[in-house]
Amino acid sequence: MLTARNLTVTYPDGGRGVEDVSFDIESGESVALAGGNGAGKTTLLLALVGILPAKAGSVEVGGLRFSKENRVEYRRAVGLVFQNPDDMLFMPRALDDIMFGPRNLGLSETEARQRAYEVITELGIDHLAERSPLKLSGGEKRMAGLAAVLAMRPSALLLDEPTAFLDPRARRVLIRALERLPQAKLIATHDLAFAGALCSRALLLKEGRLYADGPRDDLFRDERLMDECGLEASLPIPAAGVYWR
Ligand SMILES: Nc1ncnc2c1ncn2[C@@H]1O[C@H](COP(=O)(O)OP(=O)(O)O)[C@@H](O)[C@H]1O
Ligand SMILES: [Mg+2]
Repeated sequence: MLTARNLTVTYPDGGRGVEDVSFDIESGESVALAGGNGAGKTTLLLALVGILPAKAGSVEVGGLRFSKENRVEYRRAVGLVFQNPDDMLFMPRALDDIMFGPRNLGLSETEARQRAYEVITELGIDHLAERSPLKLSGGEKRMAGLAAVLAMRPSALLLDEPTAFLDPRARRVLIRALERLPQAKLIATHDLAFAGALCSRALLLKEGRLYADGPRDDLFRDERLMDECGLEASLPIPAAGVYWR
């Protein structure tokens, strides 16, 4: 349902980006996107939501192939939680940031508020609604940013280094929230314990290329493979869904 086909992205200044990446993520599947700094994780996510143009190949969500013509419809179907929540939150109240997307879809004020509160309740962050995002903690900002994306009701959810700026407790709260969400997920991270808690499959990027795609346990436990990708093998990893309880 979330597909990259021979996707190549390069930056105008010659920055490497990603090259010839192909994979397909099923509905409801959670997949870790791992790789060292500069491996291409962020580039890949930005291309999957249609922010960065594909130089070659294509991206698809729910059978809809991204093009300039359908970008509005496409971006409604796939949501990206940016690495830095400050890039997503800019209104005086968190509630307004969460209502921003639904308002942009042309929903009425009442409907936009209703959608925002559905998500706020689901994530258990009612207490943040009236707060200024500027004054939220890293963990609270992360939840508000996630809420802003979920209010668009995407069918696929992409997260870029979601545990950046989080302390262990906020990390646990995020894991529990993500576990309950039905969307297909692609989670870019080098926090392998976090990825392992949510994903049973992993993609490994190395120097812009998809280096491995397979069961999390096979990949994350392979010392040579992980070392080649600038990561560290982690042994053992508990089964998805039982970590941090
Ligand atoms: N805005 C940019 N302009 C030029 N090159 C970039 C830009 N962003 C990233 N790159 C390059 O693309 C490659 C992948 O970077 P990135 O996707 O940010 O990796 P990651 O998120 O895995 O750390 C790196 O070689 C990086 O230098
Ligand atoms: Mg990155």
